Amino acid sequence: MTLTDEITRAGEKAVAIIAEAASLDELKAAEPTIFGKKSALGSFKKSLGGLDPDERRQVGRHLNAVRDEVGEALARRREQLAAVERRRLLEAERLDLTEVPTSPRLGHAHLVSQAQERLEDVFVGMGFTVAEGPEAETDWYNFEALNIPRWHPARSMWDTLYLDLGDGDNVVLRTHTSPVQIRVMQNQGPPIYSVMPGRVYRRDTADASHMPVFHQIEGLVVDRGITFGDLAGTLDAFTAAYFGESISSRLRPSYFPFTEPSAEFDITCVICGGEGCQTCQRTGWIELGGCGMVHPNVLRNVDIDPEEYSGFAFGFGIDRLALMRHGVEDLRQMFTNDVRFLSQF
Ligand code: DAH
Repeated sequence: MTLTDEITRAGEKAVAIIAEAASLDELKAAEPTIFGKKSALGSFKKSLGGLDPDERRQVGRHLNAVRDEVGEALARRREQLAAVERRRLLEAERLDLTEVPTSPRLGHAHLVSQAQERLEDVFVGMGFTVAEGPEAETDWYNFEALNIPRWHPARSMWDTLYLDLGDGDNVVLRTHTSPVQIRVMQNQGPPIYSVMPGRVYRRDTADASHMPVFHQIEGLVVDRGITFGDLAGTLDAFTAAYFGESISSRLRPSYFPFTEPSAEFDITCVICGGEGCQTCQRTGWIELGGCGMVHPNVLRNVDIDPEEYSGFAFGFGIDRLALMRHGVEDLRQMFTNDVRFLSQF
């Protein structure tokens, strides 16, 4: 076999070794046997020395051509294997993103806001308007105008938070939505058919049924010839519209300084339907709020003549309503804002 043939053969062998390498590592390990000093192609250089100049040039040119070919084959293979390796790596490091939602999750109104909106809807459906008032009130709006002078023992019904504003104990965080009654009467005068929802504050420690911040809705009707019968009928119509026809209301005598007579209004226990259970303490009734005929002193405080006009008012907590409706046991859960809890409603 001529040297040229040997070189060709060695070249073919090298190309075969290159083709067999299954990974970049294998290719790297094989490199010395392809191009290294001790490899076949590497050893021919020495043999060239023994040839005469013409032959040396010829064989040398052939050797270079074969080496170039092998070099190209090596580069090609390296690229191929690198591509395979890249693909394998990509595949291995691929993240499964199928659980990530493709569009952002939409939130919704808070449980208490939902209850408030529904209450407003029901009252608006009955012909009421919706009014609002400030949460920081003067003593006059929160108490005095509602027939609760400073010396009045009924002040202890509301554990009041005072604000360090104005002089003395003059500014409070409203303890109920009743001061909005005063503002509505001042701003518009009779006839009035309004509900007034909002946030109220009391110096209470949070427990399963109390929060220092909670929500009430107030109702006020002032017109000519309004009677206690209108109050009872309105509350009953509201109860049926909000809770359904199977739930009714009843009134029990009570006391509030701003109404005379005053009553507490109860509804059929929504948990047991009136049969008696733990929630209603086996009475079949749940206390919802207070109500009564607007006290003549209150009307006088806003320059409405009690001889000409009469009215009724009511007020109850919204949070407890939402709580009962969804069978939530602890009021505090409503306000810790755990999305896992909130997203259920
Ligand atoms: N404001 C009272 C409270 O927070 C509730 C109330 C009772 C409101 C009787 C009224 C009413 O309008 O007539 O305890």
